[in-house]
Amino acid sequence: MAEIGIFVGTMYGNSLLVAEEAQTILAGLGHQAKVFEDPLVADWESYTGKYVLVVTSTTGQGDLPDSIMPLFKDLQDMYQPHLRYGIIALGDSTYANFCGGGKRFDTLLQEQGAQRIGEMLMIDASEDPEPESVSNPWVMQWATLLK
Ligand SMILES: Cc1cc2nc3c(=O)[nH]c(=O)nc-3n(C[C@H](O)[C@H](O)[C@H](O)COP(=O)(O)O)c2cc1C
Repeated sequence: MAEIGIFVGTMYGNSLLVAEEAQTILAGLGHQAKVFEDPLVADWESYTGKYVLVVTSTTGQGDLPDSIMPLFKDLQDMYQPHLRYGIIALGDSTYANFCGGGKRFDTLLQEQGAQRIGEMLMIDASEDPEPESVSNPWVMQWATLLK
């Protein structure tokens, strides 16, 4: 069974709800999953060689929420080839930089040699007002890719 750290970036709690439902699903499948609401780089580093799941929305003009920005900054100079990750991006396609926060995170991790498990999920608030109805099936499928 896998150990998964779920790292959340949220403004109004939608991403936290998605993260908490993901934790419930993963735990129900026998994995060890923990949610980090105000994530620190030390939390992140404890998942080297394990799995992280980033669940973040987008604010401003394609920016990351304040709750995850400190982590994002602290990760800048790392090389993380032993990290395996998944990413769920929440956004709204009526904004210019759709899911820009999640895309920025994914780009950083790709540059650092981390291995993405599955495709990034992008949830559009203007299409799906209940993000967990989209993320829950994705998490079930993502879990089949964990070793
Ligand atoms: C001030 C503001 C700026 C936003 N900017 C963007 C954006 O640039 N791109 C995008 O895709 N979504 C944008 N959104 C939409 C949010 O990312 C979306 O509503 C998301 O579901 C919020 O999730 P949260 O409660 O976890 O923060 C913005 C929302 C607000 C309120």
